[in-house]
Amino acid sequence: MADPRIDRERMAASARKLRENTRPGEERGCRIVITGKGGVGKTTITAILAHMFAQKGFTTLAVDEDPQMNLPYALGIPRNGSDRIIPLTKNLDYIEEKTGARPGAGWGLMLTLNPDVSDVVERFGAKTPGGVNLLVMGTVEQAATGCLCPENTLLEAVIRYINLREDEVILMDTPAGVEHFGRTIARGFDQALVITDPTFSAVQVAGHAASLAKELGIKWVWLVINRVRSENDIRKVRELLGNAMDLFSGEFFLLYDENVIACEPDVRPVLNSASPFMENLVTLQASLEDPGIAPGDNSSV
Ligand SMILES: Nc1ncnc2c1ncn2[C@@H]1O[C@H](COP(=O)(O)OP(=O)(O)OP(=O)(O)O)[C@@H](O)[C@H]1O
Ligand SMILES: [Mg+2]
Repeated sequence: MADPRIDRERMAASARKLRENTRPGEERGCRIVITGKGGVGKTTITAILAHMFAQKGFTTLAVDEDPQMNLPYALGIPRNGSDRIIPLTKNLDYIEEKTGARPGAGWGLMLTLNPDVSDVVERFGAKTPGGVNLLVMGTVEQAATGCLCPENTLLEAVIRYINLREDEVILMDTPAGVEHFGRTIARGFDQALVITDPTFSAVQVAGHAASLAKELGIKWVWLVINRVRSENDIRKVRELLGNAMDLFSGEFFLLYDENVIACEPDVRPVLNSASPFMENLVTLQASLEDPGIAPGDNSSV
């Protein structure tokens, strides 16, 4: 069995090599990271938004940073098809070869000066049934240490390497909580979706995530209150957040919808329903597409 310690050294070396070859260009498309407490709906919302962007003609890259790897199923990849997705962390030989990080291998074979989403997907990712591109970070060999640093660094280097075009979007689903939500990850993103449901503990995490996102320099930080059943739910979240509401560039709510649970993990049946939940998501997606315009929040029920 491969020594996980050596793998992690290789990940760090590959990340360095990619960084050296990354040219900061003029940023155009959207880079959105989705964060929040466990179970608040991060994966569901990431998958739905990814499909919505793709349906609007965006070249969409959905990234699963969660070692649990639920995003492929949410996007519609069947359970028996997921073994064809090679996680980034299991693709080291290939990455080293392509980036030139393998000792003695000289320059990589294919480093492109202006790589777009499809360049990266061709090399590291997979296509899902709805046309969304998928990049999976992978499970962690040394989960006991709790540190995802080399994995995150490699993922971040790959994401940064993409020179995002006008009609391209990256959406990244993250593991529960804020422990992993550090500088490495924030560096690659200009929008953060902080998801909460109307429970005390989820709102606490949302407040913490928002202040971190701000501190780390993420330009637009949006509050998304999910599983809303009444106006009281929205009021409760606002009250619990108090002054922390000022951290957000805008707020959105998504109604509770039985249908979402009924068809999980695959979100595609929800996309085609003319539900109030999907109407909420249309507003959210439009604001993410054009964050510079005054937030079109829908926060009064
Ligand atoms: N608006 C909604 N109405 C009803 N159910 C919802 C809604 N949003 C999400 N859910 C359900 O909530 C559950 C948790 O959602 P999801 O897995 O997306 O959360 P998560 O934040 O990604 O969780 P984890 O932190 O474990 O990765 C799922 O069963 C999903 O179908
Ligand atoms: Mg999830």
